[in-house]
Amino acid sequence: MLNWKERLYCADVSDVNLELPVVLYGWVDTIRDHGHLLFIHLRDRSGIVQLVIDPKVHAIAEKLRSEDVVEILGTVRKRSEDTINTQLKTGSLEVVVTGVKRLTEADTPPFLITEKDASEPFHVDEELRLKYRYLDLRRPSMQQNLIKRYRLIKIIRDFLDEHGFIEVETPVLTKSTPEGARDYLVPSRTHEGKFFALPQSPQLFKQLLMVSGLDRYFQIVKCFRDEDLRPNRQPEFTQVDLEASFIDEEFIYQLLEALMIRLYAHEGVTLSAPFPRISYADSMTRFGNDRPDIRFGMELMDVTEVVRTVQYQIFQTILSKKGLIKGITIKNAADKLSKNVMQEEIAKKIIPQMGAKGLTWMKVVDGKLESNIVQFFSDAEQAALIAAMGAGEGDILTFIADTNHALVSDVLGRFRLYIAERLGLLDSSVVAPCWVTDFPLYEKSENRLLSVHHPFTAPQEDISLIKDTDALLRVNAKAYDLVINGEEVGGGSIRIHDPKIQEKVFRDLGLSETDIQEKFGFFVNAFKFGTPPHGGLALGVDRLVSMILKKDSIREVIAFPKNRVAYCPLTQAPSDVAESQLKELKLEIKRLPKLD
Ligand code: AMO
Repeated sequence: MLNWKERLYCADVSDVNLELPVVLYGWVDTIRDHGHLLFIHLRDRSGIVQLVIDPKVHAIAEKLRSEDVVEILGTVRKRSEDTINTQLKTGSLEVVVTGVKRLTEADTPPFLITEKDASEPFHVDEELRLKYRYLDLRRPSMQQNLIKRYRLIKIIRDFLDEHGFIEVETPVLTKSTPEGARDYLVPSRTHEGKFFALPQSPQLFKQLLMVSGLDRYFQIVKCFRDEDLRPNRQPEFTQVDLEASFIDEEFIYQLLEALMIRLYAHEGVTLSAPFPRISYADSMTRFGNDRPDIRFGMELMDVTEVVRTVQYQIFQTILSKKGLIKGITIKNAADKLSKNVMQEEIAKKIIPQMGAKGLTWMKVVDGKLESNIVQFFSDAEQAALIAAMGAGEGDILTFIADTNHALVSDVLGRFRLYIAERLGLLDSSVVAPCWVTDFPLYEKSENRLLSVHHPFTAPQEDISLIKDTDALLRVNAKAYDLVINGEEVGGGSIRIHDPKIQEKVFRDLGLSETDIQEKFGFFVNAFKFGTPPHGGLALGVDRLVSMILKKDSIREVIAFPKNRVAYCPLTQAPSDVAESQLKELKLEIKRLPKLD
């Protein structure tokens, strides 16, 4: 019988156990053979304790290998001063083994599980880690990631509970929810030829719960999106999804700010509220994207008017075609980025890769500009440019000019991040959250209107009479994103609660009456029975946890993630299914020619 009642976790062995017997269970981490004595590190999820075994007394000890599972009986004693291991929590103690039982033998694992220091795990190829994920998760660093993830989620649950939110589960087998990605489909056996869609989010259900009067809902929930994978995306991921009635944007801002403060405090980071708010338009202008990294400045400056008179041909051509010229000032970089690097590497290679035609750059030396094109700038023009760019001695001015205004800001925004990374300005110890607000309601794609968030987001003005597309494109939405260090960790909106407005939005998006009934009939119908004003938000848990724990990839904080091509190397899913299963589903696989 296993003695779980008296079991002590390895890292819990402490001075209170001195000279007393203990029962330990765990995995053999490392073995050091001192001839007459064996020193074994025993590992469990709490950490490590050193065992001292006399192999003459315990013959099995010599057969033990790393990763064998053992039961240990022993007595705790202090180590001599010179053998204290300051790396271990239990480093001043050891357990003199009085009984050892090997519970199971282990094969040699494909990579080392032992980690000298959990904060610096050694590198193992990720495919191999994912294939043997259960062993990867035996590594102390990965166990810490999952334990901390659990703690953070518990804080979220407790926090929302304190604020009157109720957790309600919503279906996984459901109908398509429009969040902009492709659906994962599940064929139905009982309804031939029909499919469930896995939820891209619980959006429709949480709004229906508001119609039901649940008032404040949340859920820690899996969402599924078949979209192009990026490092911070997974086909299935977890949201903290929440919704509340009779609230406005301020409620969401205050709630989420308090939650973020509590979560970061758990990791020793102090945040203060209110978080800065930046409108979408402002963010696009100043940072070139809608998820501004505000840990550092280097904002985009519009110098179109400042350079209107200069004789520089490239600028003149762009200006004559109503183009835009914007730049960033790279502070104190004249020494760090040589002429050669600026011209040959950055202007000729990196900027074209980012999609712009080129980069104009100048260094500020002795109060004047220096580059191969400054002869086209008069002294007055140079001074005006330096002033407009807030530049000083040793700075580098960089400019992108193009007739495509969006491209100028986009490329410059990406260049800003590239330079910040290259010059080490992205300080991971700084946490800079902000809200991005006032998103447009719609965007245009191939002559159709699409929702920027989703079709349930409330417009900031009455759109019932607006028919003109350009006018509709100017309408802002009551939507907001929570951005931390340039990463979108959450997003949401105040919703439409008037069925007539909801219908107008569906119509603007080009849905016919039949489409609306087919896709959202149940939803539109529900709104006829008394719908409270409501709104909410969803946080990406994997992203948030990986950011709080400063992990490079969200896969580090997900127990069993998919790899970069949406495949699970452990279970080898997705995989073929038996012919009989297809038959039951009345499905047949017919390979169509590959689409380009
Ligand atoms: P949204 O689509 O913005 O909003 O998603 C909310 C947050 O979920 C995270 N996220 C992802 N994380 C990992 N992998 C993915 N593939 C992925 N996609 C999204 C992001 C994102 O900010 N129903 C709305 C919320 C609402 O309006 O209340 C929604 O799902 O961190």
